[in-house]
Amino acid sequence: MSPYHALMPLPKAELHLHIEGTLEPELAFELAARNGVALRYPDTEALRQAYRFADLQSFLNLYYELMAVLRTERDFEDLANAYLARAAAQGVRHAEIFFDPQAHIARGVSMGTVVEGLWRALEKSRQNHGVSTRLILCFLRDESADSALTTLEAARPHLDRITGIGLDSAEAGHPPAKFREVYRAAADLGLHRVAHAGEEGPPAYITEALDVLGVERIDHGLRCAEDPALVERLVRDRVPLTLCPLSNVRLRAVDSLADHPLPALLDAGLMCTVNSDDPAYFGGYAGDNFDAVRDTLGLGEDRLRELARNSFLASFLEDDEELRAA
Ligand code: HPA
Ligand code: ZN
Repeated sequence: MSPYHALMPLPKAELHLHIEGTLEPELAFELAARNGVALRYPDTEALRQAYRFADLQSFLNLYYELMAVLRTERDFEDLANAYLARAAAQGVRHAEIFFDPQAHIARGVSMGTVVEGLWRALEKSRQNHGVSTRLILCFLRDESADSALTTLEAARPHLDRITGIGLDSAEAGHPPAKFREVYRAAADLGLHRVAHAGEEGPPAYITEALDVLGVERIDHGLRCAEDPALVERLVRDRVPLTLCPLSNVRLRAVDSLADHPLPALLDAGLMCTVNSDDPAYFGGYAGDNFDAVRDTLGLGEDRLRELARNSFLASFLEDDEELRAA
């Protein structure tokens, strides 16, 4: 950790963070014991050894497996509090938090348990951690469009807790247009809309997410770099990208961090933000991602400040609140 980082982490917003991806091995074992759930790893060290991924799917397999330990409202509250404490220590002042209700409902854990459990931590987050929060319900794109619609229906009693919707899980072969109807329904409910696109999927999925789903931000969006006309459009329309550099390395979306297109995307004028995605699995929280791009990609202080400023500008905070947080 650099002296600069240790003394004064840059205040930032985190806009791409899966709460289930913040489940550290120690907490996974604690919750497994609390809930009588058996894990197929003898200890935390053995579990950590499994954190070597060939691609997105190999990560998702473990991510869904470990969720088995999350059973009660208290589990979700503890998970969120552990994330918020770590994020706050790295300068996060605002967090827009994804969650994957379908993965829990399929295990017999209700929408209410998930949302109200997370909310117990979120409603006290400003007070306890100095972090404002929003919740974004993600649909699993490898599940059906009907399942997404049923999930939105199940969320209706909890919409006062939910700011927006997103789209995640296995991308290739699951184009955004599959979810046209549920995004329209969410827009009619006044929800914000984002979607993962261009992580493993082609640049055309980014275009489709904008044109068909009406998204306000693109999660990842890394592969836009392959299509100059698309980059031009994203610059012109100030469409934020929520990039996750350490995730891209661990899931092999890039060969190494030194090959990450972030500097080129910033130079092109894109509104980039830097986020942690699934920090327990990918080797770092938001501040660690900032440190990594500073150290490996040589981003100077101006660029780091630009990234931090973008994170607030691209957030779903209201204007006055945003200024206070920034
Ligand atoms: N990509 C897609 N789906 C996900 C991810 C990701 O990085 N993390 C959790 N779900
Ligand atoms: Zn993600």
